[in-house]
Amino acid sequence: MDRIYITGVKGMLGRAVVPLFRERYEIFPADLGETDVRDADAIMGDICRTKPRFVLHLAAITDVDACEKNPDEAYGVNALGTRNVALACQRSDAVMAYISTGMVYDGRKETPYVEFDPACPLNVYARSKYQGEIMMKDLLSRFYTFYSCWLFGGGIADKKFVGRIIERARNTSELRVVNDKFGSPTYTVDLAKRMFDFIESGLYGKYHCANAGCVNRFEMSLEILKAAGITGCRLVPVSSDEFALPAARPRMEALRNYNFELLGLAPMRNWADALNDYIETMNA
Ligand SMILES: NC(=O)c1ccc[n+]([C@@H]2O[C@H](COP(=O)([O-])OP(=O)(O)OC[C@H]3O[C@@H](n4cnc5c(N)ncnc54)[C@H](OP(=O)(O)O)[C@@H]3O)[C@@H](O)[C@H]2O)c1
Repeated sequence: MDRIYITGVKGMLGRAVVPLFRERYEIFPADLGETDVRDADAIMGDICRTKPRFVLHLAAITDVDACEKNPDEAYGVNALGTRNVALACQRSDAVMAYISTGMVYDGRKETPYVEFDPACPLNVYARSKYQGEIMMKDLLSRFYTFYSCWLFGGGIADKKFVGRIIERARNTSELRVVNDKFGSPTYTVDLAKRMFDFIESGLYGKYHCANAGCVNRFEMSLEILKAAGITGCRLVPVSSDEFALPAARPRMEALRNYNFELLGLAPMRNWADALNDYIETMNA
């Protein structure tokens, strides 16, 4: 069985990746408690001892506003931490897979971004993720960068957008949600499956990897409440100007999986179908 070393296994995406990848690989899991990606020696030692065929680098500081308030932490983990993982892949001859974000684009496009659009990150989180990608590309010749967007998943531990909307909608009669930020909500299980199906291809490079469709946060929230069967809360569409947040968000983060299309791969399913499936598992 080939070995795969996975950072950030305890995160939202990690929880979807591990059970699936276990079907084909011997998994060597890592997270903050065990190996800090900022510790170059520790990550080098760990990966070189393990001698994995693949390293799936999921670990990151993903709180966009926290990154804005603490750039040292963001660049230390997301950029230099990724450099450390890439150096270990270089030494151990492992193929690296890195997850980036639709937030690296400037958001001015009217339609979903494709892999050939230029990056122009607007906030520290996106800049740190993009710098991580550049460092990996400078060091390695065999790598995948999977770009995704507005991830949801994690079940009962869900403290991100879907979990928060459900919790708040159950406890209030009115929720104000922005209708001027657009993305492609993506189920972690679907992203994990696409990476699992593609990682053996040897077709290294950059791939957008998001569920199909483009919606704003208000429209997504309407679907969340419908799927969760919540009827006692009215959603009100508002402008993002109402919420002063530390980090600027691009207006558009949605992704079109253009490189997969060009390869003739089946499209990933629509975000709303995936969301309904996910919320069903939360209620199970
Ligand atoms: N969430 C999204 O919407 C989204 C969209 C596009 C791309 N991505 C990318 O997808 C990947 C997975 O995202 P996610 O949502 O699963 O993130 P997540 O839930 O925040 O998980 C990230 C994991 O990395 C760990 N971590 C943080 N700092 C670390 C360090 N210094 N060393 C080792 N581990 C560390 C975290 O531990 P702690 O929890 O203890 O800090 C956490 O377990 C990330 O690379 C992210 O940038 C996410």
